[in-house]
Amino acid sequence: MSIAVSGKVWIDNEFHEAAVVIKEGIILDILPRSSVPLNTPLIDFEDNLILPGLVDVHVHLRDFEQSYKEDFSSGTKAAIAGGYTTLLAMPNTKPPISSIEMLQSAKERAQEKIFCDVGFHIGLNENPVNSIKALREGGFSIKLYPEDIRLLSKDEKKKKILANEEEIFFTVHCEDLERIEANKAKIENKVENHSRIRDEIAELNGVELCLKLLKSKNLHVVHLSSDLALRRLLSESEFNKKLTFEVTVHHLSLTNKKVEEFKGIAKTNPPLRSEKDILALRKALNEGKVTAIVTDHAPHSTEEKKSEEYDLVPSGFPGLETALPVLLKLVKSGEISLKETILALTLKPSKRFGIPNVGEIKLNSFANLTIVRQNERWRIKASNFFSKAKFSPFEDMEVVGKVRTVFLRGEKVFEEGNVLSSPKGKVMIKTWNL
Ligand code: DOR
Ligand code: ZN
Repeated sequence: MSIAVSGKVWIDNEFHEAAVVIKEGIILDILPRSSVPLNTPLIDFEDNLILPGLVDVHVHLRDFEQSYKEDFSSGTKAAIAGGYTTLLAMPNTKPPISSIEMLQSAKERAQEKIFCDVGFHIGLNENPVNSIKALREGGFSIKLYPEDIRLLSKDEKKKKILANEEEIFFTVHCEDLERIEANKAKIENKVENHSRIRDEIAELNGVELCLKLLKSKNLHVVHLSSDLALRRLLSESEFNKKLTFEVTVHHLSLTNKKVEEFKGIAKTNPPLRSEKDILALRKALNEGKVTAIVTDHAPHSTEEKKSEEYDLVPSGFPGLETALPVLLKLVKSGEISLKETILALTLKPSKRFGIPNVGEIKLNSFANLTIVRQNERWRIKASNFFSKAKFSPFEDMEVVGKVRTVFLRGEKVFEEGNVLSSPKGKVMIKTWNL
């Protein structure tokens, strides 16, 4: 049986009045609304936008020992509520996903609970061979944190194991811990000083370290936040086509002033920065240089975020349920390009990370569709989140555009604020020729 959905459909980088015909979870046809066969049931979304299901290659779904912060179920419900159908989850879980055994355990656990499709990045194991093995078993990249970069710079043996593997894809968090520790010794340790402690020099030095350590590797820099580091990366990526980067929704939209208002809630790594940095990131996005806009959805408990002690406040906040409307507001006010924003939320990340059949509304793709009421104005209220983390530095912000309905492989999984049916997501396995 096939069905059709019609509205303003995102095809070839523009909205077109059209109907998408779906059969067995796949896009079978794209037609003018009036050409849909009479025996095909049609759901008409009128002038609502129909986007490809959004793709986020950087989320923290936690689970395991940190299920009190988020689990596969709550995290992926938050995803579909935000219009996301495809996620890549980060490996800094407790215990971390850095071996075949833990990847297997994550896959099994996730398969029972996920409401959208999920793949996994792999963490750096004590023995890097284990990370490589897990990558071969279907991980999407090896993720390196600042601690890992420091460790590898000092450990030739470990570095060699990774360097010998020509085709490994690394995602890297570039911040230099030496610089951060030196700043910490000089600057009063309080959340209001977070952006001075983890300053833009720390990010720039982090980028330098990564480029030196992983020269000629396939490299994706996560959550780039400062003008300074951005300029360094842009000059490098001009002739190094194996180098890409992503930016977060919050680094495109919030300055470090939010820390005065929201205190520890707005603490994130890398920190929120200045207006100048935001403008530089938006310019890079508008020029098509940003491979992915990500949420870095990083849930914690409210108690943890409210701690008075700088070191005890964990970094990060939930982002899956706020990303699209925050970005659409920036599109509406002319700050960021609609085309580049949608591309960085869909096709560009799916291509870069080799996730097949998603990110685009075209024949034979998965019928992953996100339907958005484009002119609806509403206020963000974290108490309504599906995420367990019911706080946000976007709290009370008026935004525009609301996710109305989401289809995952042809099945309606979310509508008008409600998650429908049981978990229908699938664990995604990457195939490598390593
Ligand atoms: O703010 C952050 N939170 N940055 C990171 O790099 C990690 C993340 C987390 O896991 O909470
Ligand atoms: Zn992260």
